[in-house]
Amino acid sequence: MRRKLVIGNWKMNGNRAANSALLSGIVAGLNDFGADCAVCVPAPYLAQCQAQLAGTPVAWGGQDVSVHASGAYTGEVSAAMLVDFGSTYVLCGHSERRAYHGESSALVAQKALAALASGLTPVVCFGETLAQREAGQTEDVICAQLQAVLDAIEPAQVGKLVLAYEPVWAIGTGKTATPQIAQDAHRFLRECVARKDAVAAQGVQILYGGSMKPENAKELMAQPDIDGGLIGGAALKATDFLGIIQAV
Ligand code: PGA
Repeated sequence: MRRKLVIGNWKMNGNRAANSALLSGIVAGLNDFGADCAVCVPAPYLAQCQAQLAGTPVAWGGQDVSVHASGAYTGEVSAAMLVDFGSTYVLCGHSERRAYHGESSALVAQKALAALASGLTPVVCFGETLAQREAGQTEDVICAQLQAVLDAIEPAQVGKLVLAYEPVWAIGTGKTATPQIAQDAHRFLRECVARKDAVAAQGVQILYGGSMKPENAKELMAQPDIDGGLIGGAALKATDFLGIIQAV
């Protein structure tokens, strides 16, 4: 049985006062819901997460990682730096990085490798645009995005990934994929992983992301291949984030 995992993706939001209230609210409201939970925050706030979340059930991590270990790469944050502040997870290849920063699937695969090499769990994001879905290209697009990562890693590393299916048309739009659309994509992604490692495919957590909120989380999470959520907007309010965790 795969454990459920709910990760908040704060994107470029927050400040020290607001973060402090949000993190306290999450920690105070967590019960024994049976799901793992984490927040992926802007790099300057990793220290605040470490100070406030160490010893709680809430893990934390970054939203991007450099492929380089160190050196003359102005503005980049290395995997070792994320680890230095106690991170467990790092997002790799979020659609906003792919769209606004030109990240290719090959680069995303290198980022996942850099994360794995430092002991972080990469949360590798995939998803099709509306135009790609309407052109019937969804499976080709998400399979190619996933395959780039699978080709780059060792078979033994497959089980160390977390995957996140985030249809671009559902992110921040209020348009959630129906449970069936999401389930079909998740089952398909799991089949793609199974071609590399059938046993690992059964264990790998595949999160859904895209306008998930307390009202729709339960039905999405009830799908057999949906193992949790990657939450944007609703992760910025403790009650909404907790509501999603509770829905698990
Ligand atoms: P959203 O974002 O929940 O605001 O749609 C999800 C994401 O981009 O990870």
